[in-house]
Amino acid sequence: MANLRGLFLALAISLIALNLNSVEATFPENVYFTWGANQATISSNGEDLQLVLTNLSVKAPSPTLLTILASLGFSGSGIQSYNAYLFGSIEMLIKLVPGNSAGTVTAYYLSSTGDKHDEIDFEFLGNSSGDPYTVHTNVFAQGVGGKEQQFKLWFDPTADYHNYTIHWNPSEIVWFIDELPIRVFRNYESKGIGYPNKQGMWLYSSLWNADNWCTQGGRVKIDWSCAPFKAGLRNYRPRACRWYGQSSIYSCAVNASYNWWTSPVYSKLSYSQIGQMNWVRNNYIIYNYCTDYKRFNWNMPAECSLEQY
Ligand SMILES: *[C@@H]1O[C@H](CO)[C@@H](O)[C@H](O)[C@H]1NC(C)=O
Ligand SMILES: *[C@@H]1O[C@H](CO)[C@@H](O)[C@H](O)[C@H]1NC(C)=O
Ligand SMILES: *[C@@H]1O[C@H](CO)[C@@H](O)[C@H](O)[C@H]1NC(C)=O
Ligand SMILES: *[C@@H]1O[C@H](CO)[C@@H](O)[C@H](O)[C@H]1NC(C)=O
Repeated sequence: MANLRGLFLALAISLIALNLNSVEATFPENVYFTWGANQATISSNGEDLQLVLTNLSVKAPSPTLLTILASLGFSGSGIQSYNAYLFGSIEMLIKLVPGNSAGTVTAYYLSSTGDKHDEIDFEFLGNSSGDPYTVHTNVFAQGVGGKEQQFKLWFDPTADYHNYTIHWNPSEIVWFIDELPIRVFRNYESKGIGYPNKQGMWLYSSLWNADNWCTQGGRVKIDWSCAPFKAGLRNYRPRACRWYGQSSIYSCAVNASYNWWTSPVYSKLSYSQIGQMNWVRNNYIIYNYCTDYKRFNWNMPAECSLEQY
């Protein structure tokens, strides 16, 4: 009997170890630089990471070459997580590029690989000094995206670190800013609407030059005299289910206490969270694909008429 209990305990512990990444792990343990490693820095015992976008011409062998490289975004920096995940919570504190950040984009998103990829996005589009940032959100399922919603913020995102968290479970995706839900995308697979639940996603974050489209449709260019641009990332916390391939489609979704994200509390927002989300959406939404009738020629995507909370 005691042996059996011991066996179950060992099994339970190994299941937890299998599914949960070490939550308190630092940036060097969790992520690597995909580009720009020479510019970005890690500090505070690995809890802080600074993404940097510079004007490369400082080290220019040829000004023309470097103008081209800079315009392609090669002067920025980016990270990717070692592990992929399927469901859970991905949490990051971010302090955006201060001052004149027009033309810069700080991206923070989850994505799988391949041409039918899944993706959940937070992107922060910089602006001229004093003008507000745009927070861009989107979701892709099996390669299909086009579900953009954009927001302004109710605080200055460059003055301090704020909490940007993605909750993702078999029932819904919730984008949180400082614990306020700003958007929900529910799983309506039963109605034929794609939902990301069969591919592991990696975390990516990067700072790059997007002045060909980002600020006011590309009209406002990066002012390189303000370079280097720096965005701070802090306390990355993946409380999420590790992806080990096809078997994870079941093991990360199964309703069990070690898969905390499958608990009924996370399948739907509470009444007070719905109230918070309505406050954000009534006051700060600036673009919603669901009300862009012209774009869809009045054939609105099916999820637009379904409840999202
Ligand atoms: C980078 O800075 C130098 C000197 O400040 C400037 O001459 C050059 O045009 C800048 N490069 C780009 C790509 O703007
Ligand atoms: C960040 O927000 C998430 C979602 O609301 C929350 O679970 C988490 O505790 C917050 N983290 C911090 C450090 O406040
Ligand atoms: C920048 O600020 C202007 C003026 O408030 C606004 O129209 C624009 O949407 C803002 N965001 C971006 C990314 O351009
Ligand atoms: C998951 O398990 C909990 C606790 O046993 C239960 O309350 C809930 O209804 C279950 N959810 C589903 C989708 O089966």
